[in-house]
Formats: sequence, structure tokens, C-alpha cells
Amino acid sequence: MAGAGDKVDYVFKVVLIGDSAVGKSQILARFARNEFSLDSKATIGVEFQTRTLVIEHKSVKAQIWDTAGQERQRHHAIPYHLSSETYRVLLPNKLTTSHACYFNNCRYRAVTSAYYRGALGALLVYDITKRQSFDHIPRWLEELRGHADKNIVIMLVGNKSDLEEERAVSTEDAKEFAEKENLFFLETSAMQATNVENAFQTVLTEIF
Ligand code: GTP
Ligand code: MG
Repeated sequence: MAGAGDKVDYVFKVVLIGDSAVGKSQILARFARNEFSLDSKATIGVEFQTRTLVIEHKSVKAQIWDTAGQERQRHHAIPYHLSSETYRVLLPNKLTTSHACYFNNCRYRAVTSAYYRGALGALLVYDITKRQSFDHIPRWLEELRGHADKNIVIMLVGNKSDLEEERAVSTEDAKEFAEKENLFFLETSAMQATNVENAFQTVLTEIF
């Protein structure tokens, strides 16, 4: 691993996306610090961590961005005046049509495009025990393709492979979807450190 004083040949930005609670932040904690926590809190706003690694004899700094799977949590990242009234419009059960329009046009797009800007790779994460998180993958893919560079390297990631007895998405279904959409695919466990390294290495090497 490269030390702090070593020169960096490349910086690659990679984004993590997918529903809330699929394990994005723990995948990142495992990759960046080799840590895992069972009582991980939902991410608020946008965070990133870096790790420098050597790929084909070059020093590559991976800058991994992580955000909330829930739209309303992303918005908390933006510094602007929150009257009690504006704050309420961010809560989905209080959304009215005009509020939703304000929400979509002004705030949501700003964070979303900043998040994807310059990203060369993406991990599109679902939870193998939550069917809904897999069913939402096409929506995430649409958002990604709408905002990111068209050559972005995308890896579909089925996380929580340690929970085999609770599996709700078959490996075959995911593999078939990934082939159809031209995505790389792996099942990971942030908890057991299975394939996390492999997922990032594959994306970074492919960017390279
Ligand atoms: P948001 O920030 O809300 O978008 O969620 P997230 O996708 O970042 O999820 P997070 O990493 O916070 O993980 C959610 C929960 O799943 C936590 O309780 C984690 O400990 C747990 N978790 C994450 N990865 C795994 C895994 O590989 N196996 C198991 N069993 N649990 C995991
Ligand atoms: Mg998170």
C-alpha cells in the first residue's frame, strides 16, 4: 500500500448507490478501513473516503463517494435556510404537488449531479435478502445513466451474502439482469469481507 508521501498517478472517483440499508456504508468501511459495524446509522448527506492502491504498477487513489439511499436524507446535505415550513416539505408523507415540484427541480437535481460528476465507476448495491432493493435497481441505473459519464464502469453488487438462509434474490436472476444491462456482477458480504476487495479492484482495473 502506498504511504502518505508517495506520489499518486491517478485519482478515480467511484460512487455507491442503492436503497437505504443495503450496506453501502459498510462496504465502504470494509474497503477503506477494513472495519464493519452492525449498528451502522443511515447516512445523512454525502460522505467520501479514499484508499490508495497499486494497479498495474501505478499508484491509484480511489475516492469512494457514499450517500443516503433515501432521497430525503440526501437533501440534508445542502446548506440553505430551513424555515420550519421548508423543512416539512422534505418529509415525503407531507409532500404536495407544488412542494414536490420545488423539491425535484431545485434541490434534488443539484445534489444528484454533484454526486455523479466526474465519477468513473459505480457500485450499484442491493441486499440479497430484500427483494425490493433488487426491484429498484433499474431506477438507480436510470438515474446513474442520466447523470454520469456514458463510459462509467458499473458493478452490480448483491450484498449480505452471509445471510444465505434469508435470500430473496437468486444469483441467477441477478446475473441475468447484469448481462442484459452490460454490468459486472458480484455477491459480497461486508460483514465477512467476502468479495468487497474484488468488487472495487474489478471496477478500478477496468477504469484503468
Ligand atoms: P443508507 O445510508 O441509509 O443508504 O444505508 P446503507 O446502504 O449505507 O446501509 P449500511 O451500510 O448502513 O448498513 C445497513 C445495515 O446492514 C447495518 O445494520 C449493517 O450492519 C448491515 N450490513 C451491512 N452489510 C452487511 C453484510 O454484508 N451482512 C450483514 N449480515 N449485514 C450487513
Ligand atoms: Mg449509508
